[in-house]
Amino acid sequence: MKALVLAGGTGSRLRPFTHTGAKQLLPIANKPVLFYALESLAAAGIRDVGIVVGEHGREIRELTGDGAGFGLRITYLQQPQPLGLAHAVLIAGDFLGDDDFLLYLGDNYLQEGVTDFARLAAADPAAARLLLTPVADPSSFGVAEVDAEGNVLGLEEKPDAPRSDLALIGVYAFSRAVHAAVRAIRPSVRGELEITHAVQWMIDRGMRVRADTTTRPWRDTGSVEDMLEVNREVLDGLEGRIEGKVDPHSTLVGRVRVAEGAVVRGSRVVGPVVIGAGAVISNSMVGPYTSIGEDCRVEDSAIEYSVLLRGAQVEGASRIEASLIGRGAVVGPAPRLPQAHRLVIGDHSKVHLTS
Ligand code: G1P
Repeated sequence: MKALVLAGGTGSRLRPFTHTGAKQLLPIANKPVLFYALESLAAAGIRDVGIVVGEHGREIRELTGDGAGFGLRITYLQQPQPLGLAHAVLIAGDFLGDDDFLLYLGDNYLQEGVTDFARLAAADPAAARLLLTPVADPSSFGVAEVDAEGNVLGLEEKPDAPRSDLALIGVYAFSRAVHAAVRAIRPSVRGELEITHAVQWMIDRGMRVRADTTTRPWRDTGSVEDMLEVNREVLDGLEGRIEGKVDPHSTLVGRVRVAEGAVVRGSRVVGPVVIGAGAVISNSMVGPYTSIGEDCRVEDSAIEYSVLLRGAQVEGASRIEASLIGRGAVVGPAPRLPQAHRLVIGDHSKVHLTS
């Protein structure tokens, strides 16, 4: 069995981060979202993985390489435009050949991994197999209607009046029957070839489409709120480890990971927290539920439930929370007078002012 991981797309809800980088490389507990997917495919015994990339493909290739570090053989497939999930399958036709494969959306985080799902797909072959989970807001997802035996009766993409609360998680298992389906369907109202429509095409032709339901933690990391939540969930399972330097004037509470080359001075860190290599925390309060990326600097500040990307700097900020701060971004104090905010902010940024 092969795997096809989708790492293209525009990531409009994660602007401005997606102007300058791939959403699949945004970190959860200092590791790119995409890496969790690749690790879980390797753990499921899959070796040949195609990654469909879009405009930020070069960065993904540089970081992920040939896959040897994950125990995988990775082939990159360039999607010229983000024309939908079924379009990604279409362009991967040559790579996939006649093999069965798992389709994995690279910005989805699935705590349980895909080992059980891949095993079921191999043991009980079907034209397609979908992984589902009950959600509170099915209208935001692909939704499946399933009978008592686990057969999928029908699918809808982001329906106004959902027929069930079972959302499609971004993991699917396909036989080669999917290739005819992605060639046959037409673009949806949002102008994309929807994988949901391809599966519906298979159901309409009497093919066997099965569903497996999970209630284990899963998230589409498509928005800042989701990123912060999944960061919190992953940090919850973190083990503390101090490899960097923590001075005697600092206090660490709970599970804190300080990477080699990181420095904590005169600070209080309340876990779960990860602090990346080369980061310097001084005279600050950090945590809980905070990931500080490599080479960040936090000085005279208080920060919790936040994620700092590589090289971000926060200085003199009395309290920051629920924030995602980009690579090399600088947050610093304004002069006391005049009482005005002075902002240099890129396109699609969001700033919340308290006064
Ligand atoms: C896509 C699929 C949808 C699925 C979702 C899971 O939606 O089209 O069926 O439920 O991923 O994350 P998108 O995130 O592209 O809007």
